[in-house]
Amino acid sequence: MYKNLIKTNVEIKKMKEAGKIVSNVLKMISEYIVPNITTGELDRICHDYIVYEEKAFPACLGYNGFPKSTCISVNDVVCHGIPNDKKKLKDGDIVNVDVTVIKNSYHADASKMFFVGTPTILGKRLCYVTKKSLDLAIKIVKPEICINKIGKIIQSYVEKKDFSIVKDYCGHGIGKKFHEDPQILHYYNKNYKFLLKENMTFTIEPMVNAGSPNIKLMKDGWTVKTKDRNLSAQYEHTILVTNKGCEILTL
Ligand code: MF3
Ligand code: CO
Ligand code: CO
Repeated sequence: MYKNLIKTNVEIKKMKEAGKIVSNVLKMISEYIVPNITTGELDRICHDYIVYEEKAFPACLGYNGFPKSTCISVNDVVCHGIPNDKKKLKDGDIVNVDVTVIKNSYHADASKMFFVGTPTILGKRLCYVTKKSLDLAIKIVKPEICINKIGKIIQSYVEKKDFSIVKDYCGHGIGKKFHEDPQILHYYNKNYKFLLKENMTFTIEPMVNAGSPNIKLMKDGWTVKTKDRNLSAQYEHTILVTNKGCEILTL
């Protein structure tokens, strides 16, 4: 069962290349996230950078029919926001840009939050807690720990800060395919048990809501919003389990 979850050295080398590209994209786009730019424009900038500068492919484009190259999720959008030319960013917005690329047939996937202008106190705190929940999880990843420890540490930290964890979406194995086994839950499930092994690659991508954890899928079939329309934040990295711990491939 473990066998196809473990990457070869050749595969890992390719994923590191893809990971570097994803982190370059997220760094590159940062300066464009200003009031009045549209999410459609941000998507085009990412697309052109990935294709023409990095000679890679934006994995979201055409994935299960997804129409754009990135997911851009603003304020109460939990994930899978579709970039468009009508949605203008405004001062105080919190924005997640989620980028997945394919390079030499291998994927890497990461996302982070950006502030438009001056963030609200709540927006800033929500992003801080979400980022820290991911960092805490990354710190405990190593061979032979039980996979459910990842969700346990994320959920307990987030709830201690009086925010809530979205349970409808999870992290995932990643490699030649965008979404592979295993699923990475961001909450504790005592029955979800197996041990991590060296050279597994997966994402951790907690979605944290300021209000209730409940979500609603919009009529476009992709955009996921908080049911109570409160703010939501997400951070994501692609992780490689190493002999003593783990390495972030999208740093
Ligand atoms: N990047 C998302 C993830 O973290 C998946 C987006 S799928 C898309 O797994 F089709 F919406 F792009
Ligand atoms: Co992902
Ligand atoms: Co992603």
